[in-house]
Amino acid sequence: MSRSKRKWDHIQYALATGQRSLTGFEDVAFIHQSLPDTFLHQADLGTSVGELSLSSPIFINAMTGGGGDRTIKINRDLASAAKATGLAMAVGSQMSALKDPNEIESYRVVRKENPKGIIFGNLGSEATIDQAKAAVDMIEANALQIHLNVVQELTMPEGDREFRGALKRIEQIVLHSEVPVVVKEVGFGMNKETVSMLASIGVSAVDVGGFGGTNFSRIENARRERLLSFFDEWGIPTAVSIAEAVVQKDEIAVIASGGIQTSFEIAKALALGAGAAGMAGYFLKVLIKEGLEPLIEEINIIHNELKMIMTALGASNIRQLQQAPVIISGKTHHWLNERNID
Ligand code: FNR
Repeated sequence: MSRSKRKWDHIQYALATGQRSLTGFEDVAFIHQSLPDTFLHQADLGTSVGELSLSSPIFINAMTGGGGDRTIKINRDLASAAKATGLAMAVGSQMSALKDPNEIESYRVVRKENPKGIIFGNLGSEATIDQAKAAVDMIEANALQIHLNVVQELTMPEGDREFRGALKRIEQIVLHSEVPVVVKEVGFGMNKETVSMLASIGVSAVDVGGFGGTNFSRIENARRERLLSFFDEWGIPTAVSIAEAVVQKDEIAVIASGGIQTSFEIAKALALGAGAAGMAGYFLKVLIKEGLEPLIEEINIIHNELKMIMTALGASNIRQLQQAPVIISGKTHHWLNERNID
């Protein structure tokens, strides 16, 4: 199967397999403050993730590129929404464009549409130092995401089967990269031991890419005959994965993602200690089902709601929101207890 057909399939199946929310955020509750001493219009959404300063804690996570006119349009629209709302944006894996120059345009369109925006490049952990540099140059990226997607590869009939040496390759990329390197999962989450290994080689931030939203096992299973359905329930829920990752927060910045769809979930992710929250499948769904203007409107609404939540909690900025106390119950509490995470 061609790469571009597969990419289009991913978009279709991501929409069809839906955005079930199994993230664990329902186990996280805020403690209401009756005297918050805040003013809505002073709520400041600016944040930082490692060396990057962002005007919003929300960003559009990696989805697409390559694959012809349809993906060019999706990337142009996503970039246009990012520009209109001040969001950072990651492009999808650029490996196809490194192998086929005809595909470069579908990535460059993102930089053309948003010349001054914060844009992340994206490659898998099989990338070489030269490929990492070329991906950054292609879109004048401000940071480079390296994705880890072992379960997705295993569920793809044509996927990789060799996973040795990834940490060493990432270390080489970090050593030679002129931009910060973010290592991300794609919906199976990361544990604190993985985050610690990534911190030890100088990775700037991890994006936990937790379980509970877009599910690449379900997407791939929808495309194959003999199902690997055990992987459908596989992964660390996003709320748990954020708590696992922030154990290392003095060494490495933490980004939340995986199934985030609402301002309330973003606020909970930040209160668990993340510096920013990525959204992929939900933004794609709004764009494809409703269009560009509704996507921009939805992001503006989410920004306003986030300011309201901050105001109610007594947080005037994201740093204060990150310190808002939360009560954790249910399965999430159980997990963190078993793993000795406070
Ligand atoms: C993705 N994702 C992804 N991630 C990545 O690092 N490189 C990629 O090329 C892609 N491609 C891709 C295509 C489509 C159609 C979707 C929906 C997603 C994964 C994405 O960045 C994110 O980690 C997961 O989708 C989990 O977040 P959501 O979708 O639950 O918000």
